[in-house]
Amino acid sequence: MRDYDSRDGVMIFGGIPVTEIAEEFGTPVYVTDEVRLRENYRNVHHAFSKHMNTEIHYACKANTSLAILKILEREGSGIDAVSVGEVMTCLKAGFTPDRILYTGTSVSNDELRAVTDLGVMVNVDSLSELERLAKIKKGIPVSFRITPGVGSGHSSKVVTGAKGSKFGIPIKDAVGAYLRARELGFEPKGIHVHIGSGGQSVEPFTEAMEVLIEITNDLKDRGIDLEFIDIGGGIGVPYRPNEPEMDVNELGRDLTEMILEETDIRTIKLEPGRYIVCDTTVLLTRCVDVKDAGVKRYVGVDAGFNTLVRPAMYDSYHHAAIGNKFGRACTSKYDIVGPICETGDCLAHDRALPDPEEGDVVVIYNAGAYGFSMSSNYNSRPLCREVLVNNGKMELIRDSERVEEQWRHQRIPERLIR
Ligand code: LLP
Repeated sequence: MRDYDSRDGVMIFGGIPVTEIAEEFGTPVYVTDEVRLRENYRNVHHAFSKHMNTEIHYACKANTSLAILKILEREGSGIDAVSVGEVMTCLKAGFTPDRILYTGTSVSNDELRAVTDLGVMVNVDSLSELERLAKIKKGIPVSFRITPGVGSGHSSKVVTGAKGSKFGIPIKDAVGAYLRARELGFEPKGIHVHIGSGGQSVEPFTEAMEVLIEITNDLKDRGIDLEFIDIGGGIGVPYRPNEPEMDVNELGRDLTEMILEETDIRTIKLEPGRYIVCDTTVLLTRCVDVKDAGVKRYVGVDAGFNTLVRPAMYDSYHHAAIGNKFGRACTSKYDIVGPICETGDCLAHDRALPDPEEGDVVVIYNAGAYGFSMSSNYNSRPLCREVLVNNGKMELIRDSERVEEQWRHQRIPERLIR
C-alpha cells in the first residue's frame, strides 16, 4: 500500500494538505493524483514493452472520468471497453476507434450494431454473438475471448476465467470459432482472455497464456495467423499496509518470453484497469457523527456505499486514516459508516483511529479503481465531485450532481396529477 507524507499532522496528497482539498471542494470528494496516474501507466507499459511490442488497453470500467481518460490518451494508451457507453465516452476523451477494443458479454444486436458503426473492433464472447455479428457487419477484423479454465481474483464475484464461466468461448469450441469466423468472411486478428480481477500472483496468468499459445499454434497449422495475444486485465494491487506488491516486471518478462519463444506473434495486448488507477485516488469524507453503541463505536461519515460500494459489495478492505490527525496514536477501534439506511453501509470495520471527532477529514485509500465508476444515486444522493491534483495544484474535473437532475428523465402520468 502506498504511504503518504504529512505536514503538521495533516496528510499531504499530490502536494496539498487533504484538509485544504476538503475545504475547497467539500466532501465527499474523489481526489486523483495525476503524477501517480502517469507513473502507473508508464510502469506497466515499460514492464512489457522492454521485451516486445506492447499495446495497453486501459480497462476504462475502473474509472471513466473524462480527465483521467484524457491523461491516458495523451500517454498513448488504448482502451478496453465493455459497453457502447464506454466506447462513446472514450471517443469523447479523444481516443480514435482503432485504439479501442470492445469486449462485451451477453451482447445484444443493438449494441453490436452501435459499436461496429463507430468503427470499433469486437472481441467476440460467444458463438451466438459471432453468428449475430455476421448478419450485422461483414468482413471486419475480430478477436475471440477464450475461457481458459484458469481463474483468479480478490473475490469469487470477480473471477472470470474459470471453467464454466459465463465469459468467453470454452476451449473445446475455440478453434471451431475461428474456422467459422473465416467461413463467415471475418478477419481473425487476435485471441484474448481475462482471468479475473485483483489476483496477486503471476502463475494464473502464465497458465492462461499456455492455453492461448496452444490455440494460437493450432490455428497457425490451419492457416490462421493471428497478430496479437491479449492477456486481459487483473493485475492486483496492495490494499493493506505492508501487503506485498505484485511484480509487474516479472509478469511482463514471463508472459512476453512465452509468446516470443513459442509463437510467431509479435504484439501483446493487456488490459489493466485497477493497476493504472487504483492508488492514484483517495476518497475524502468528513466525520459528521461519532457514536458509542456500547459494544461498538462508530464514526459516521458523509460517504456511504452510494459513494464507494466495494466494501459492501465484495467485503473489500480499503485503508482509512484521519487526514488531520495523521500519524497520531490510535485510541480505539471504530466502524466507519455512511448515511445510507442499511446496516451494510460500512466503509471499514474495526479500525484503530486517533480519537475521531466531528469535522475530521477521513481519507479512504485506493479509491481510484471501481470507486466513482460504481457509485450510485441510492437514497437519492447526488453523485459527488472529483478533483485532479498535480504537484500542489488542484482542479475540479467533475462537479457534484444536483438532486433535481435525478428527476429529469421521469414522468408523472397526467392522470395522477390533479
Ligand atoms: N479486461 C476485461 C475484459 C475485464 O472484464 C476487466 C475487469 C479488466 C480487463 C480489468 O481488470 P482489472 O485490471 O481492473 O483487474 N468491480 C470489481 C472489479 C470488476 C472487474 C471487471 N472486469 C472491483 O471493484 O473489484
